[in-house]
Amino acid sequence: MRAVCDQLYLMTDDGSNGHKGFVTAALEDNIKNGANYDFVVAIGPLPMMRAVCNLTKEYNIETMISMNPIMIDGTGMCGGCRLTVGGKTKFACVDGPDFNGHEVDFDEAMKRLRTYREQEQEATREFNCRLMEGAKNA
Ligand code: FES
Repeated sequence: MRAVCDQLYLMTDDGSNGHKGFVTAALEDNIKNGANYDFVVAIGPLPMMRAVCNLTKEYNIETMISMNPIMIDGTGMCGGCRLTVGGKTKFACVDGPDFNGHEVDFDEAMKRLRTYREQEQEATREFNCRLMEGAKNA
């Protein structure tokens, strides 16, 4: 990122790398200090993307996010990746995964993301799922 960015603000929850805090803190500081952003790209966990969108909406900065819901067939047929964007049903696999973050229904997306949480936890317990271990450490 340093090779392609004029400015790089590295944020980590625990301060183990860069500055301690959320990306929204750095973004808001920069905006308040006069940065004039035309466009924001937020890619990561849903709560982070939602927080960034809430902030950029306040400052009227266009924001693109990349949705990563559960995908099964990747063809728009199964409905696993269904989202509501701008009041319309969209499928991340064929209509995205990038969307205008100000139009995404985050409440619905987060609820759908939790749909299989019980089964995921059961799989972790019963099969010592290594994939879930990796996700926890991410
Ligand atoms: S993955 Fe099935 S509709 Fe998108």
